[in-house]
Amino acid sequence: MSPFDPRMMLKELPPAFVWIGLLTLSLILVPPAIILRARAVPTESRRIHIIQNMDNQPKYVDQQENILFEDRRSMRPQIPGTISRSQMVSDTHYFLGTVDGEFAADFPEQVHIDEALLKRGRIEFEIYCLPCHGVKGAGDGVIHERAMVLLNAGTNGTTWVQPKNLHEEAIADQPVGQIFWSISNGIRNMAGYASQIRVEDRWAIVAWVKALQYSQNAPAERVPGADALPVRTKVEPGEEDAS
Ligand code: HEC
Repeated sequence: MSPFDPRMMLKELPPAFVWIGLLTLSLILVPPAIILRARAVPTESRRIHIIQNMDNQPKYVDQQENILFEDRRSMRPQIPGTISRSQMVSDTHYFLGTVDGEFAADFPEQVHIDEALLKRGRIEFEIYCLPCHGVKGAGDGVIHERAMVLLNAGTNGTTWVQPKNLHEEAIADQPVGQIFWSISNGIRNMAGYASQIRVEDRWAIVAWVKALQYSQNAPAERVPGADALPVRTKVEPGEEDAS
């Protein structure tokens, strides 16, 4: 055996070194063993959650019990004979879009129809309505397109009602109060937006919907510089572009 044989070198080490080495090696294996066990074995106790970041807060969530009250409900019913501010509708024209129980034909007096209102209406329409009704309100938004893809693929039994084309005669003829009502309360398959969109912004959207409807039938003389505008003809796939 050569003097550099590892077995020879090991023999020359003081035996305590060998034992300490073996002990360290086995101790090193303990933490991974604990971690593996913690990951694999189910336990009744809660997870260790060192950094709280306000993840757990003392509070009541919906329908939770609260022993402070006799009926143990943390969601308190309205006190009889009171109404909340949001339930107080003194001006039905502005808040509901109705006058004497009929849909209002005109905008309420608080709503000033000017360019700023239309701009606001456009922004809000493009946030809340465009995804379904499309940029022009023709009922062809991206959500509709996606739904059609899923529907045609038969994915998970998808069913879908097409968002209305807002230029349909039946909708173009509606009084402004009715459109306001549909936005606020929803209509058939469409959900209402009263909780997301403020009253004044809902009226701005109504104004923009009216502007969109007008834009589809505007006579050329009402469009400044109409003659100078390029005429775009729709080219179907396979057809030649005439321009
Ligand atoms: C999630 C998709 C979706 C969004 C977002 C949406 N709509 Fe609709 N909308 C629909 C569908 C679907 C219908 C047709 C409902 C039906 O016929 O059952 C509809 C119908 C309508 C109608 C027709 C009402 C009538 O009298 O027939 C109007 C007006 C309308 N939407 C306006 C809006 C406006 C304004 C917004 C934005 C605030 C909006 N919608 C947002 C899906 C949507």
